Amino acid sequence: MAESRWSPDSWRLKPVEQSPAFPDAGALAEVERTLAGYPPLVFAGEARKLKRALGKAMAGEAFLLQGGDCAESFGEHSADNIRDFFRVFLQMAVVMTFAAASPVIKVGRVAGQFAKPRSSDFETIDGIALPSYRGDIVNDIAFTPEARIPDPRRQIEAYRQSAATLNLLRAFATGGYANLENAHRWMLGFVKDSPQSGRYQEVADRITETLGFMRAIGLDPEAHPELRATDFYTSHEALLLGFEQAMTRVDSTTGDYYATSGHMIWIGDRTRQPDGAHIEYARGVRNPLGLKCGPSLKADELIRLIDLLDPTQEPGRLTLICRFGADKIEASLPPLIRAVEREGRKVLWSCDPMHGNTIKAANGYKTRPFERVVGEIKSFFAVHKGEGTHAGGVHLEMTGKNVTECTGGARAISEADLHDRYHTYCDPRLNAEQAIEVAFLVAELLKAERLSAPARHVDAAE
Ligand code: TRP
Ligand code: MN
Repeated sequence: MAESRWSPDSWRLKPVEQSPAFPDAGALAEVERTLAGYPPLVFAGEARKLKRALGKAMAGEAFLLQGGDCAESFGEHSADNIRDFFRVFLQMAVVMTFAAASPVIKVGRVAGQFAKPRSSDFETIDGIALPSYRGDIVNDIAFTPEARIPDPRRQIEAYRQSAATLNLLRAFATGGYANLENAHRWMLGFVKDSPQSGRYQEVADRITETLGFMRAIGLDPEAHPELRATDFYTSHEALLLGFEQAMTRVDSTTGDYYATSGHMIWIGDRTRQPDGAHIEYARGVRNPLGLKCGPSLKADELIRLIDLLDPTQEPGRLTLICRFGADKIEASLPPLIRAVEREGRKVLWSCDPMHGNTIKAANGYKTRPFERVVGEIKSFFAVHKGEGTHAGGVHLEMTGKNVTECTGGARAISEADLHDRYHTYCDPRLNAEQAIEVAFLVAELLKAERLSAPARHVDAAE
């Protein structure tokens, strides 16, 4: 398929879904010019390193853990929030790495996850219709006419917040906080009396014991940076294309274009039209890409999208983030896997068990029943086992805080509890305990997969 020439602005010639109506084109152009002169948030070499790691996951030798807020917000930007998120993320990663004996690739939905697609351009409350909230990078969530006007200057604020968040995350990841010797110290105060704390404590004990043994034989964190630091990457939905274009840079070492707004970017289920602007933008940057796959995606359309986004079959390039819903995955996923296998394509399969399982509680709260989230993950692993392919990752909406946004979990949050600490700017997120519960589940499923794979099970003496 001959595609026309790509440039960072070639998307502008295509239909743009989910585009905010900025009233002042001059102010928008001015902001985009300003952003284009700012330093990149991430470097091409880091994006390539992530791509190599994802290539390993494609081959079944690693697992992708991707997660964070549905939408970051300006109002909730604080060191405490970032630390609590990162801490739970580390706890999850360590559970999965240790219990499943599988390397875990850590990718946050963070430091750039600001723009939201909406099902309707307008929101109506008590007969008043205002433009929908499209994320803090576009407008304000308050339901007033002024707040909802798209304001391009918010993109500068989003850049500033992303830079500050990334700076702190880099410090945490490499400056000692992520040292495996701290595994016990990552315990959250409120997790201590939670149903997950005993299980987590046990893993932390075993890690401490293992590190003690390693130190005794001469392998210590002082001499081995891989024990005291971790690679943490950022990702977000590449929805606001003017912002993405402004953050696109040529990598001086290769001459290739990269999105420098985050290490990995993904295309949403609402903006993946093969002839649309979002696919056009994404195909030209060399970052690892995600593509959200929902129940409406047909197998032939998926193959067409793979041709567009990954024409050279590059390891680690494309992650298919499946979000069907617990009740649809068993019917929807196998045809896609079979088409990809039949066409000989190489992709990484990841499971988003959040977006297909959103319901409205009787009291009006948008929520996600934990058992449906768990159900979709289990089905995802079962389907891949049946097809002989690798269940390669999970993509979660989660927070380090003890919110009450999803029902269920070991603490059995009920619909009546939701109002207690319901803080999300968009979709309901797993709280810290629920997220760790998911990590234990995934660890068990990965372990089962590893033990049932004869080629990689080396226990010949048995
Ligand atoms: N560097 C390894 C990794 O990232 C081990 C490691 C160090 C680690 N700190 C960690 C693993 C924190 C999980 C969580 O996998
Ligand atoms: Mn969401």
